[in-house]
Amino acid sequence: MNILLIGCGNMGAAMAVGISRDYDYDLVIVDPDLQRVRQQVGASVAAELASNLSEISGRAFDLCIVAVKPNLVQATARQMAQLLTVSLTVSIAAGIDIASLRSWSSPATKIVRAMPNLAASVGQSMTVAVAEPSLSREERTTVKTILETAGRFAWLEDEAFIDPVTAVAGSGPAYVFAFAQYLAAAASSLGLEDTFAAELVRQTLIGAAGLMERTESSFPQLKAAVTSPGGTTEAGLSALESGTALADLLQACVAKAAARAAALRTEAATRA
Ligand SMILES: NC(=O)c1ccc[n+]([C@@H]2O[C@H](COP(=O)([O-])OP(=O)(O)OC[C@H]3O[C@@H](n4cnc5c(N)ncnc54)[C@H](OP(=O)(O)O)[C@@H]3O)[C@@H](O)[C@H]2O)c1
Repeated sequence: MNILLIGCGNMGAAMAVGISRDYDYDLVIVDPDLQRVRQQVGASVAAELASNLSEISGRAFDLCIVAVKPNLVQATARQMAQLLTVSLTVSIAAGIDIASLRSWSSPATKIVRAMPNLAASVGQSMTVAVAEPSLSREERTTVKTILETAGRFAWLEDEAFIDPVTAVAGSGPAYVFAFAQYLAAAASSLGLEDTFAAELVRQTLIGAAGLMERTESSFPQLKAAVTSPGGTTEAGLSALESGTALADLLQACVAKAAARAAALRTEAATRA
């Protein structure tokens, strides 16, 4: 299978590392800054590098991952249609819908819209994708196999849900990092040295994530497992969950992110 990756920044590099770790592939990476690509993916990725699509004009690929910024997807898809033969196009650009991708792409390519997250760089992404109905069962399996190299994968049958998925899973790592930041600041306010406070928070979140990975227990059940009646956790949670402040904040957070995803989609469709 030969795979083309267009755009090797934060997300593209993470996907390149995953693909080369887990899959038998021929990978070509296109990015304007090849020196940065070499630094980012290092020796772990055996790939042919090109600084633009013209350099690989006339080539055919089984699958292409489009990982450029959303505002560059239209030009990239049009160039792909002119220069390359691509069986499956997988776009990971936020806010670019399948209808737009279809209108910019060659009729010969089948389109998948995927939403990974930055944890792809450690093989722990939650990636969700929507496919055009024309994809065969085998093609869906191929896409799933490739995207699973970045972590966990799920198909979404209705593209309308990709905005909430983006708001929760695409942006989600940043919410966890924000939580970590404020928990560390709170730890420092109790007199703990900053570096030690950060270490405590980091390992506590890693440990909690590990527990979530290894058990089927629900979130309330996991919470209950840490909480003894009259104990310290109960006291802490009584402040954290006082009223509906935390629930309201997270509700507002994902609603705003989902609205932004929808607005980006509208902007992209208007530009087309
Ligand atoms: N970061 C995330 O957490 C995340 C999560 C889900 C989805 N996404 C999506 O993933 C895509 C990439 O995001 P990112 O954060 O990885 O952005 P990024 O770090 O800016 O990476 C984009 C890369 O594409 C390169 N590029 C620009 N023009 C190109 C061209 N014509 N051909 C080939 N490569 C080109 C850029 O090079 P220059 O910098 O030199 O322009 C850069 O290396 C976006 O569409 C984003 O919506 C990102």
